[in-house]
Amino acid sequence: MENIEKILILDFGSQYTQLIARKVREVGVFAEIHPFNIELEKLKELNPKGIILSGGPSSVYSEGAPHPRFNVFELGIPVLGICYGLQLIAFTQNGQVDAAAKREYGKAMVNVVEDNPLLKGISNNAQMWMSHGDSLSKMPDGFETIANTENAPICAIANIEKKIYGVQFHPEVHHSLEGKKVLENFVRSICGCVDTWNAESFIDQAIQDIRDKVGDEKVICGLSGGVDSTVAAVLIHKAIGDQLHCIHIDSGLMRMNESREIYDLFKKHFDISIEVINGHDTFYGGLAGVSDPEQKRKIIGKAFIDLFDGATQGLDSAKWLAQGTLYPDVIESVSVKGPSATIKSHHNVGGLPEKMNLKLLEPFRELFKDEVREVGRMLGIPEWFVKRHPFPGPGLGIRILGEISEDKIEILQRADAIYLEEITKAGLYDEIWQAFAVLLPVKSVGVMGDERTYEFTCAIRAVTSTDGMTAEWYPMPYDVLEKISSRIINEIKGINRVVYDITSKPPGTIEWE
Ligand code: XMP
Repeated sequence: MENIEKILILDFGSQYTQLIARKVREVGVFAEIHPFNIELEKLKELNPKGIILSGGPSSVYSEGAPHPRFNVFELGIPVLGICYGLQLIAFTQNGQVDAAAKREYGKAMVNVVEDNPLLKGISNNAQMWMSHGDSLSKMPDGFETIANTENAPICAIANIEKKIYGVQFHPEVHHSLEGKKVLENFVRSICGCVDTWNAESFIDQAIQDIRDKVGDEKVICGLSGGVDSTVAAVLIHKAIGDQLHCIHIDSGLMRMNESREIYDLFKKHFDISIEVINGHDTFYGGLAGVSDPEQKRKIIGKAFIDLFDGATQGLDSAKWLAQGTLYPDVIESVSVKGPSATIKSHHNVGGLPEKMNLKLLEPFRELFKDEVREVGRMLGIPEWFVKRHPFPGPGLGIRILGEISEDKIEILQRADAIYLEEITKAGLYDEIWQAFAVLLPVKSVGVMGDERTYEFTCAIRAVTSTDGMTAEWYPMPYDVLEKISSRIINEIKGINRVVYDITSKPPGTIEWE
């Protein structure tokens, strides 16, 4: 986002770095994340109105601890240091940090002890979230204490004149009840940001950017059926109309009726031209007899590329490939990628643009998922579609464990549809980040009526998460489980046992393969 007021977040490895950016954007100011060792030249080019130093797992004194390449406190730009960021202020300004007499993890009540712009309007005894072992033992030169807690006599500091602030608590996390106000004070009152950045202003700017970039050239967009590529296609269509050509490959591994729904959404709801390619034979043929998860992922990924490639052969005039790439995929810092990034070979159509000699058009490179959803709403995409749970590229191919057959696909599609219908009826769909059924290659004995059955097992899974990198299993109410289990077993021939997955991530992954 050029020509827009922005806050720069320097990442020192905190698990909450992305949250800082999201919270600042929620107050209507654009924020972007850069690694702690950004070059000064680059920072100046970005021309931020303010800088936030994230937390991080290190101690400022330890060997190899991350330090910026230059003195961020001498740039004349307002700075807010959070946790590790506060320690950096002490380190560079002649203060001292020591292991705290009492470590603080969890909620703490913060008392404001000195009037200041950062904590203006914050209640006394405001609940904030702490997570630190080290704390400030000597005040840095030119600073004063502006807040304390029972265990931390110095919990927030300020050099009001130089507009440098440090807080020991994490204003970005949900449990810091008045944290958003603190961030708002920083970006609005201290940094002086006046612009409003939201989905509406994003759409206006993105449409202009797309038109400027693309001119009268043609764009191809592969529609997976997911929220990101769908919203991208609708946005691009709004910008360049029929210069956009959408292709959806129906792999036969989608959820029940999903390809039809995508076609209807584009053709009937938006009147956007869409080509649907039936790839069932290619996918089923390639997967026949294969049970190894990694091999399945590779076969599915290659089938997508081959079919997509074939479908675009005649479109020589196309110069662009649109993709729904999101901000978390492009942030340079490692801490936001999480440890699971390399556990499974993720399927996407990477490599395609080079092969086809296409330029990439990625209008959401700077957006988080929630923001893409909001853009989708503003563009008139129906709510049920916009808030859909994530679905992996390889689809049911990695939710049927072991070998895949058309029978098994149909069984799983029906079980999954019943499951999602029941959690929606119970009003739980929006509370859950991702819910789905898995078909296990395990048969067990049962009895229905007077007859012995010997059929497959269906596992159902539901997790809560913010980004899919970590997840908690969802405590599904017993009555809902009961309803789901009895409907699946009664209505679907082929399943006679249902189990509920109670594994969090880590140590599990969200998908079973
Ligand atoms: P895991 O199973 O790694 O999944 O915990 C984390 C999130 O990523 C989704 N997922 C994928 N998404 N292509 C995708 O586009 C893939 O190959 C893929 N594999 C997993 C998964 O559904 C979850 O939301």
